[in-house]
Amino acid sequence: MSRIFSGVQPTGDLHLGNYLGAIRNFVGLQDDHECIYCVVDMHAITVWQDPARLGPHTREVASAFLASGIDPKTSIIFNQSRVSAHAELAWVFNCVARVGWLSRMTQFKEKAGKHRENASVGLYVYPNLMAADILAYKATHVPVGEDQKQHLELTRDIAIKFNNDFDTECFPVVEPLIFGEATRVMSLRDGTKKMSKSDPSEYSRINLTDGADDIANKIRKAKTDPGELPGLESLGEDGQRVSKDAVAERPEAFNLLSIYAALSAQTMPATLEQFAGQQFSAFKGELVDLSVDKLGPIGSEMQRLMADPGHVDGILADGGERAAALAEPVIREVHEIVGFLK
Ligand code: TYM
Repeated sequence: MSRIFSGVQPTGDLHLGNYLGAIRNFVGLQDDHECIYCVVDMHAITVWQDPARLGPHTREVASAFLASGIDPKTSIIFNQSRVSAHAELAWVFNCVARVGWLSRMTQFKEKAGKHRENASVGLYVYPNLMAADILAYKATHVPVGEDQKQHLELTRDIAIKFNNDFDTECFPVVEPLIFGEATRVMSLRDGTKKMSKSDPSEYSRINLTDGADDIANKIRKAKTDPGELPGLESLGEDGQRVSKDAVAERPEAFNLLSIYAALSAQTMPATLEQFAGQQFSAFKGELVDLSVDKLGPIGSEMQRLMADPGHVDGILADGGERAAALAEPVIREVHEIVGFLK
């Protein structure tokens, strides 16, 4: 049985992209895999976080895991800073990864922007900590949205270089699991930009804690184009995915359609067939109903859980102990391989 690891940052305002690209996929995997799901609070502080809000934001992500259907008895749910193995292994990986590798990371370039000299060193070595998260458990599969693909390639490079440098087979070469109809959910205001917590417009994203009225308003105001909804002619050669050219021409239309497909758990071709030739107004009505139906119960369960911090903290503490026990022998093995004295 393969071991699954994934993480979500507690930076506030979890949104539909986090849910469809990642968290929802976590749920299905726990039936036949050993799963470890982590709230990565150490990653969050690579950019400034208000200490008074980091705790509530950590509970928000844990609540989203629970409300979406992750079972804390079978899967492990914890926050990263509880388990020191992450920081310890990250240091070793800081000495394995090359400066040139990290300089190529697009997420660093985007987040550091023009003020690169002012970015924290933590932001620069962020991907090394991510590799440590995964490899501290020798996890083999990592469910994520498309934007994390490059970081996982770096995790593979680190595992391969560590194994080569020390002539060992200690670490597995991990496989990303990027699946579902919405692996890259785009902004509701601009179909060429990723839906993101850092977008200043609230109308660009649907937050998981939004109520029915907010969901409806945001979808009704979502950008569209003057055409009718596209049909099966927009599929690419494989007959399953929309062609890149079609998406480039009508990014907002295909974003909304892929959200519909993902939430209704039907394929993109079936969704295209259902709405081909219709007006956006009718389609948006259906998308509002579906979104409220699927996201409403998750949002209200999250609110209920967040109102009971003791309960959530207990789950994180228990998960932290179980995670630490799994990572401990791996850290011991790494110390021995590197040559640290006991
Ligand atoms: P984070 O917190 O930015 O996002 C959490 C998950 O949500 C996915 N995601 C999206 N998927 C589809 N469309 C979107 N618009 C969208 N926005 C976000 C992300 O791909 C991610 O899967 N570096 C990671 C956290 C991390 C991690 C790890 C992940 C730390 N250690 C180890 C996997 C394994 C991050 O910033 O995710």
